Amino acid sequence: MTQPSSDSPSAGTAVGRPGGVLSGRLRVPGDKSISHRAFLISALAVGESHADGCLESDDVLATQACLRALGVEIRQTASGAYRIHGRGVHGLAPSDGVLDCGNSGTAARLLAGILAGHTFSAVLSGDTSLRSRPMRRVIDPLMAMGAEFLTSRDGRLPMTVTGTDELLPLDWNSAVPSAQVKTCVLLAGLHASGTTTVVEPRPSRDHGERMLRGFGAAVSTAAVDGGQAVSVEGNATLRPTAISVPGDVSSAAFPIVAALLADGSEVELERVGTNPTRTGVLDALRAMGADIDEEPAVGAGAEPMANLRVRGRAGGLRAVDLGPEYAPRTIDEYPALAMAAACADGVSRFRGVGELRVKESDRLEALRSGLVAAGVAARVEDDDLLIEGTPRPRGGVRIEASLDHRIAMAFLVLGTACAEPIEVGGAGTIRTSWPEFGSAMRRLGAAIDTGTAAP
Ligand code: S3P
Repeated sequence: MTQPSSDSPSAGTAVGRPGGVLSGRLRVPGDKSISHRAFLISALAVGESHADGCLESDDVLATQACLRALGVEIRQTASGAYRIHGRGVHGLAPSDGVLDCGNSGTAARLLAGILAGHTFSAVLSGDTSLRSRPMRRVIDPLMAMGAEFLTSRDGRLPMTVTGTDELLPLDWNSAVPSAQVKTCVLLAGLHASGTTTVVEPRPSRDHGERMLRGFGAAVSTAAVDGGQAVSVEGNATLRPTAISVPGDVSSAAFPIVAALLADGSEVELERVGTNPTRTGVLDALRAMGADIDEEPAVGAGAEPMANLRVRGRAGGLRAVDLGPEYAPRTIDEYPALAMAAACADGVSRFRGVGELRVKESDRLEALRSGLVAAGVAARVEDDDLLIEGTPRPRGGVRIEASLDHRIAMAFLVLGTACAEPIEVGGAGTIRTSWPEFGSAMRRLGAAIDTGTAAP
């Protein structure tokens, strides 16, 4: 059953070198979370949906390939937009082969929710990073709804999902605030007979809810004790729609931090998604003293966006203490934020970030050990990360990306602010979220050499 996907993105070495003032404008690539959802939810609508601004990276291409294998027709127009011919809720067809989700937890977990409502078996797998990540958090609710699972050791991929067209509605208390768990259960809920509700301890990103409403699904949200309950009506019929994907604030975090760390820099980032469930990074950087202006941009869709202007100043950042309430709306940006903290004045503390242990790599450990190797004092206390900033870290190390794109980009950015370069091994993994990272950063003036790893 095991058919591991290629780990070739682990190839390639990149270098972040000191120096360079950043200036100019940049359009960061489309939001990864929203792009996955655009393809997956369109696949369940009856008829043709349109999506523009989609991210074209390995992660999203994996989602597209899985959907094609399940009978969904996806075409790209001359303008680069996509037309997705949905087959309706319950309408996917069995796939001949393993559904390879590559490096993408979002692809695997959201597809599991959709497959739970289909009366065939499908096998989900991925690269070595994805095969080590926990799937119990989606298996448990989906089994409670009536789907069956066969997994590798300890609830990891590869796993076989056998769905049913008689899914039961569910009230599910999610132990972690996770948009992947929430969206997975809501997608399964579309296929159930009745109302399915997910309660999360703190609100996670709401792209799924916004998009489902755009397709005509009945989704409601209620505040519950600091968290929220999100419900969807089952037996749903989704009508096709047009989706406009904003730029990814998680990708924007890297040029933002690089600009903040280079004295005299001024960069403008266009049409960045500013959904409030995602903008913890902007709040955190401003609390550190960062100069970031925000001009709302006119958008067509359900997601807000803005043009951001960032100005860097030597010694311009001070340490910050971020409470656990930051975690769900900042979760993918801690690697970039950690590099800002590494150069800030004082000791920063990121509280309640234990979920970083189960990302594309154990990011808590990768950040701690990488920072220490680069000459920055950092430690982990329970679920908190502490970083003692220094104006010009030593650098002069090689960091292994270990199939984690954000660890790779974060340390390349740090290299631009160090006394000596930082080399990143396995930098090809950057292709999972931002294939043009290297050239985009160089165009702004950052001394980041990605060779063939992420041109
Ligand atoms: C995502 C949710 C987050 C995030 C991931 C994308 C999504 O994961 O870290 O990169 O698209 O729903 P969790 O839901 O596990 O927190």
